Amino acid sequence: MTPLFLVSLLLASLPCIKAESTFSPARPPAQPLAVVSPYLSAWQTAGSDGGNGGYLAGQWPSFWPGQTLGWTGLIRVDGTAYGWMGDPADVSFVNQTSYTYTSTSSIYVQSVEDKVQVKITFLSPITPDDFLRQSLIFSYVDVEVVSLDGSEHDVQLYTDISAEWVSGDRTNIAEWDYGTKGDLSYHKVYRQTQLAFSEINDQTEYGNWWYATTSDRGYTYESGIDVDVRGQFINNGTLTDTVDTNYRAIQDSWPVFAHAFDLGRVGTRSTSRLFSIGLTQEEAIQFDGADGVVPLPSLWLQYFSDEISALHFFHNDYRTASSLSAALDAKVQSDASAISDNYATLATLALRQSFGATQLVGTNETQYLFLKEISSDGNVNTVDVIFPAHPAYLYTNPTLLKLVMAPLFENQEAGQYPNRWSMHDIGSHYPNATGHTDGNDEQMPLEECGNMLIMSLAYYLASKDLDFLNTNYKLLDQWTQFLVDEALYPANQISTDDFAGSLANQTNLALKGMIGIKAMSVIANATGNLTSASNYSSIASNYITQWQTLGINSAADPPHSTLSYGSNDTWGLLYNLFGDKELGLNLVPESVYEMQSNFYPTVNGEYGVPLDTRHTYTKGDWESWAASLASESTRDMFYSDLANWINVTPTNRALTDLYDTVTGDYPGIYFINRPVVGGVFAQLVLEMGLHP
Ligand SMILES: *[C@@H]1O[C@H](CO)[C@@H](O)[C@H](O)[C@H]1NC(C)=O
Ligand SMILES: *[C@@H]1O[C@H](CO)[C@@H](O)[C@H](O)[C@H]1NC(C)=O
Ligand SMILES: *[C@@H]1O[C@H](CO)[C@@H](O)[C@H](O)[C@H]1NC(C)=O
Ligand SMILES: *[C@@H]1O[C@H](CO)[C@@H](O)[C@H](O)[C@H]1NC(C)=O
Ligand SMILES: *[C@@H]1O[C@H](CO)[C@@H](O)[C@H](O)[C@H]1NC(C)=O
Ligand SMILES: *[C@@H]1O[C@H](CO)[C@@H](O)[C@H](O)[C@H]1NC(C)=O
Ligand SMILES: *[C@@H]1O[C@H](CO)[C@@H](O)[C@H](O)[C@H]1NC(C)=O
Ligand SMILES: *[C@@H]1O[C@H](CO)[C@@H](O)[C@H](O)[C@H]1NC(C)=O
Ligand SMILES: *[C@@H]1O[C@H](CO)[C@@H](O)[C@H](O)[C@H]1NC(C)=O
Repeated sequence: MTPLFLVSLLLASLPCIKAESTFSPARPPAQPLAVVSPYLSAWQTAGSDGGNGGYLAGQWPSFWPGQTLGWTGLIRVDGTAYGWMGDPADVSFVNQTSYTYTSTSSIYVQSVEDKVQVKITFLSPITPDDFLRQSLIFSYVDVEVVSLDGSEHDVQLYTDISAEWVSGDRTNIAEWDYGTKGDLSYHKVYRQTQLAFSEINDQTEYGNWWYATTSDRGYTYESGIDVDVRGQFINNGTLTDTVDTNYRAIQDSWPVFAHAFDLGRVGTRSTSRLFSIGLTQEEAIQFDGADGVVPLPSLWLQYFSDEISALHFFHNDYRTASSLSAALDAKVQSDASAISDNYATLATLALRQSFGATQLVGTNETQYLFLKEISSDGNVNTVDVIFPAHPAYLYTNPTLLKLVMAPLFENQEAGQYPNRWSMHDIGSHYPNATGHTDGNDEQMPLEECGNMLIMSLAYYLASKDLDFLNTNYKLLDQWTQFLVDEALYPANQISTDDFAGSLANQTNLALKGMIGIKAMSVIANATGNLTSASNYSSIASNYITQWQTLGINSAADPPHSTLSYGSNDTWGLLYNLFGDKELGLNLVPESVYEMQSNFYPTVNGEYGVPLDTRHTYTKGDWESWAASLASESTRDMFYSDLANWINVTPTNRALTDLYDTVTGDYPGIYFINRPVVGGVFAQLVLEMGLHP
């Protein structure tokens, strides 16, 4: 045991005197710091199952599955150093007074001995219809310092990252470099042995990581052993402007990459410094499309000649990126709070996470949005993960919905998938979208055909892009014929809720298939195939009439839909009704909506309505879908339970969609940080008023 380790043990055992922070609009289970793509996903865990309650200082940030990402903030005030981010040794920590989140930012306010205030804004921009900006995998940290007591204080600011960002295996060797372009100063860190398209523990194993700032007045930098570099700042307030060239394993005398600023005397006029963190990978995805398996470039390469130009643009674009993000924040806040404050609490937390599973890929001519089924299995563009998430994309920019479906259409239309139904995903593990030429993907035939038809019509109704329907008509029709055969009496199979088990005659799954057939009748009509339009429309109506007898227990008090046909005592969230309302189809009678709306309050648990009668757990995305279809009082019940749950749940995992309605805890290990939380936007999609 090194003496240094003894010192940190002693510090750790000192009683912790921590002032209380406020959390607004809620204390999420994990606070998003830099959440941009499947690989740029840094969080501060908060929930009591391992989180520290929601404080930026005193605990390391982590990658979404839980492994530490070294990311440190130090500040010296009148010669004494304190920590403002992470858990560095040998300093005491600032006092956090508030934490606030918006759709794109996490903002912490801290006090240093009531002398100066530190305000740290983590901004992960979302620019849904500005692909130049949306294609960049970078995030901002803005640190603003001001005097709290009216006096001037002598202040120095420090931040570093470790090499933990560059590989999921801490024994791997990192290499690094320091450079400048104009007044941009950056550390570049990367795996010495690049493993293209590979992951370890969900971290990416290739590309370059960047930590950059503007080399303003008072700037110094350094790379080296963590305790040395931080110690140099703690003791001295400046760094040595030197680069460690002893490339070594991530965990071997932990190399860190630091920036520092001597801010001089800081009074009541605030001063701030900006840092940018992110990842560049020239090739992003391997894709089995019309041309067979090819590597696809990151879309930012269409706009920037090289990675340093991209970084330079991003860093100098803070003013524009933050005003675009603020406009989106304001839109979401205003649209969502028009429903309720509880709903706004959910929507603003969910948006960044639903975008943070995606990245824009391809060329100007052929663009794609790739999406990782984060946490549950790493599949690429999983149809029944896109489906729950799709309201977030439809609400912000319908083109994103087209681009996330594009690889699935292209692969199956090129004859690369042998089954007649829609595939489940375009590849078993991100970033390999290499398809399933053997047809052995996870089979959810009815689920995925219904999903693709409903989302295709949703995109068309929002965009009026008739070319899209014409181009894909044949495959859409093929899927519909499958639904005509299978939707009335669904065979024993899994639905998207595969973790709950397989079942025959699932009421909710059958409903989705019928809505899919009706959606195709609108597609056929729009493309001028009037015979098919009326045929599919009458099949859907006929099925839905039978469904109301097969899938509803009308003798129950109150009546409700069943989990499966004829199982009178069973029930579940009938979330698939959403497609009918979303698309303005009027296939399902209003009485069914009213019935479900009256039923849910009778089975509501402390933290919400269970997914179905098989378990006490539920899914927040499907609850949000059910809420969007309900009466105002039932809707408010759902959103209030969900908003309360995120504020009090013990889980410290990035917004889990699966949780227990009795304990409020997280029951498994597969539902962390998933894009499906974009399903919260179902309510705002209904406000769009799509209709045939
Ligand atoms: C934090 O607050 C406690 C209690 O008020 C105080 O004793 C301590 O000095 C403060 N620490 C800092 C760094 O502000
Ligand atoms: C993707 O495929 C490549 C081979 O082309 C392989 O080396 C890599 O490990 C795969 N990545 C994942 C995450 O499975
Ligand atoms: C601070 O560090 C610089 C560079 O290493 C050195 O020149 C200076 O003497 C140091 N000052 C103190 C007070 O340690
Ligand atoms: C892609 O399109 C943008 C304009 O949207 C243009 O600025 C850029 O030069 C194009 N890139 C290529 C490689 O053609
Ligand atoms: C309606 O569609 C079904 C399923 O594709 C087909 O079997 C049937 O022949 C069609 N009927 C007419 C009148 O086109
Ligand atoms: C589905 O329900 C129908 C009607 O109740 C029944 O005839 C059929 O056997 C059920 N299918 C399965 C696989 O249980
Ligand atoms: C069919 O499309 C026409 C326009 O092409 C529209 O006026 C009509 O309402 C549509 N009918 C249905 C049932 O969607
Ligand atoms: C209409 O649909 C039928 C099959 O349902 C197909 O054979 C025909 O090509 C379609 N016509 C048009 C104009 O899309
Ligand atoms: C289920 O309820 C329906 C009325 O909704 C009734 O007709 C049927 O007999 C019941 N089935 C069983 C197995 O109890």
